[in-house]
Amino acid sequence: MKIVWSSEYEIGIPVIDNQHKRIVEYINTVHELQGQRDAEAELRAVLHNLVDYTLSHFAFEESLMEEAGYSDLADHQLAHQAFARQIEQLRKRFIQGNEVASELAGVLQSWLLKHILTDDQSYSDTVKSRLLGRRGKAASGQVLQAVRRYQR
Ligand SMILES: [Fe+2]
Repeated sequence: MKIVWSSEYEIGIPVIDNQHKRIVEYINTVHELQGQRDAEAELRAVLHNLVDYTLSHFAFEESLMEEAGYSDLADHQLAHQAFARQIEQLRKRFIQGNEVASELAGVLQSWLLKHILTDDQSYSDTVKSRLLGRRGKAASGQVLQAVRRYQR
């Protein structure tokens, strides 16, 4: 089923919210392409992009938390790593010719939304208050650079 983005998924850091929305768009595209004929090549490309984008999003989040000196960074990283292993395994099975598209989209969907609503909400205040100014401007040059690098 398609995900309908809602403001409850926003954690209040635009660059992160945009990345989460992008992942949701990828998941929705997988759902769309699944039932279609002759969409195999496109589906393959979207699945790879979805996995790659999710992994680079995790790295970006971790760098923000690290710069903010977030105390639960280690736990958050463990959650990312466990999930990254899970989706890499699914990608491998997909490359081997197994039909995993719906499983991958489903797993990502349920994990991601729960993760956004709990773990990501938890770091939001720390990152906002320590790294971003009151008006939401990035306070440090390094963060600004990182934000520019990843903002799409
Ligand atoms: Fe996260």
